Amino acid sequence: MSYASETRRRRTFAIISHPDAGKTTLTEKLLLFSGAIQIAGSVKARKASRHATSDWMEIEKQRGISVASSVMQMLYRDHVINLLDTPGHKDFSEDTYRVLTAVDSALMVIDAANGVEAQTRRLIEVCRQRDTPIITFVNKMDREVREPLDILDEVERELGMPCVPMTWPVGQGKSFGGIMNLRTKTMTVFESGSERRPQDFETIPLADRETLLKRFGHEFESAGQSMELAVGASPQWDHAAFLAGKQTPVFFGSGVNNFGVMEVLEALVDLAPPPGPRTSQLVVNKQPVVKVIEPADPNFSGVVFKVQANMDANHRDRIAFVRMASGKYSPGMKLKVQRTAKELRPTSVVTFLSQRREAVDEAYAGDIIGFTTHGGVQLGDTITDGANLQFTGLPFFAPELFMTVILKNPLRTKQLQQGLAQLGEEGAIQVFRPQIGGPMLLGAVGQLQFEVVQHRLKSEYDADVRLEGCQYTGARWITADTPAELRAFTDAYPQRMALDAADTLAFLCTSPYDVRLAQERFPKIHFHPLREHA
Ligand code: G4P
Repeated sequence: MSYASETRRRRTFAIISHPDAGKTTLTEKLLLFSGAIQIAGSVKARKASRHATSDWMEIEKQRGISVASSVMQMLYRDHVINLLDTPGHKDFSEDTYRVLTAVDSALMVIDAANGVEAQTRRLIEVCRQRDTPIITFVNKMDREVREPLDILDEVERELGMPCVPMTWPVGQGKSFGGIMNLRTKTMTVFESGSERRPQDFETIPLADRETLLKRFGHEFESAGQSMELAVGASPQWDHAAFLAGKQTPVFFGSGVNNFGVMEVLEALVDLAPPPGPRTSQLVVNKQPVVKVIEPADPNFSGVVFKVQANMDANHRDRIAFVRMASGKYSPGMKLKVQRTAKELRPTSVVTFLSQRREAVDEAYAGDIIGFTTHGGVQLGDTITDGANLQFTGLPFFAPELFMTVILKNPLRTKQLQQGLAQLGEEGAIQVFRPQIGGPMLLGAVGQLQFEVVQHRLKSEYDADVRLEGCQYTGARWITADTPAELRAFTDAYPQRMALDAADTLAFLCTSPYDVRLAQERFPKIHFHPLREHA
C-alpha cells in the first residue's frame, strides 16, 4: 500500500469527558466491537479510582494505568484507529491538553443527566483553539436524564457551534425505547444488558410507523416531534464544516448497554478525518523557516507529546510517545532529535495495541509509537530521519501554583537536580530557577502535581524534599523585540526573573496586578501566559 493510502486509512482521536460520564465504558465497547479485545472488563479493571485522592497508591495506580492504556490501537473496516485516552483528574489537565495536540479529532462523552460539565468545558476550549473536529456522544439514555433538546442546546452553547443530530432518542430511563438513525431512517430498539452485540439489536424502518406507534406509542410520537424541532433548528450536515470544527454530529446511546456505540465507531471511520498536514517552524539565522509537512511525505517525522517514566524504579527508562506526522517507521531506522541534533538511540520501540505493547513492525503518519530511552528526549521534541524540522504547538501553561523545594539532606543535591530535570522533561511539573539564586521553584497547574513530584523525588531519586509555599501566584514568559529592551526589563526586576526547564525566561508574579504594572512600565515587553514548544 502506498504512503498516501496508509495515511488515509488512519484515524487518531482523543476521548474526552468529565469523570464518570462513561469514557472508560465507551472506550471498552469501542475496543470490543472493533474486535481489538475479546472480553469486556479489561479496560475497566485497569481503571483507577475515579475519585483520585492524594493517596499514594492511587497516584501510582494512575501512572501505571496511563502507561498501559493511554494509547490504544484498533482495526475496523480496514481502518487503523488510534484512540488516545486523557487523564481524568483535573490536576493533570496539562497532560490532556498535550494529548489533544496529537490527535486529528475528539470524541466527547456527555452524561445526559449532567450535560456539559466543568472539565469538559476546559477541554472543549482547547479543541476550539485548534479547530479540532468533535464528535459528541450523549451517554446514559437508559437513565432519567434531561430532554434531548435541552442537552443539544447546552452543547451548542458550550461548544459555540451547531449540533447536527445523527441519532435521536425515543424516550429515556425506564421508557427508553431506542434511537432513530437519521441517516439510515431506521429505529434501533433498546434492550438492556451488556452481553448483546450491536448487530443483535432489532431495527425497524421509520417508514413502518404503524409498528413503531403500536410498540412505542406516545414516546415515539413525542420523539418524532422533538426530533423535527431539532433538525429544523440545526443546519444541514456539512462534512467540511465538521472538519473545520464548525459543527458537531451528535449521537445518543448507553455505553454500558452496548447501545448506540456502533454508530460512533462507524462515524469515526466515515466522518473523522485522517491525519492532515503539520507545520514546521524552524528558526534559521533568526528567521523563521516555515514548512508544511504532508502526512504522505515519505520521510519520517513526528513530535513527542508525552514522556512517561517507566514504572520500574531500578531502571531510569522513559517512554517518549511520538505522534507521527509523516513517513513510515520501520525497525532499525536511524532517527535524530532536532533540539540536540543527536541520534535517538532507543532500547526498544513499541506500538500500543489495545493495551499491549508490542515491537513496532511499521507505522505511518497518525500512529503513535513509543521510544524507550534513558533520556535525551523532551516533551515537544521533533524527531526526524534527518531533515531539520521543528513542529510547534505543544502548549505549556503558565503555572498558577508555586512551591519552593527544600532538600532535607543537602548531600543529595545532585539527585534532586537530576530528578527535577527529568520530571520537568516529562512535564510532570514545571521547574523554575530564580536568576539571583536561591531554592528552585516548582510551578503547577494542579495541586496533586506537587504531591506526585515530592513522592517521586523520594522513591525514584532518593531525594527527600520539603515543599514550602511562596509568594508567587503566576508567571509569564517574557520576550522583547530587542536585547536592549529585554536587558532593561530584567535589570528592573532581578528578583522576579527565572529560567524554566527549556531555559526560557519567565517573570514571576505575586498578583495579577504585577503583570499589568510591569506592562505599563515596559510597554514593549511581551508577556506570554502560554509557551509553545519551539
Ligand atoms: P469515566 O471513565 O468517564 O469516569 O466513566 P465510566 O465509564 O467509569 O462510567 C462511570 C459510571 O457510569 C460507571 O458506574 C458505569 O458503569 C456507568 N455508566 C457508563 N455508561 C452508562 C450508561 O450508559 N448507563 C448507565 N446507567 N450507567 C453507565 P459505576 O457504578 O460507578 O461503576 P461500575 O460498578 O458500573 O463499574
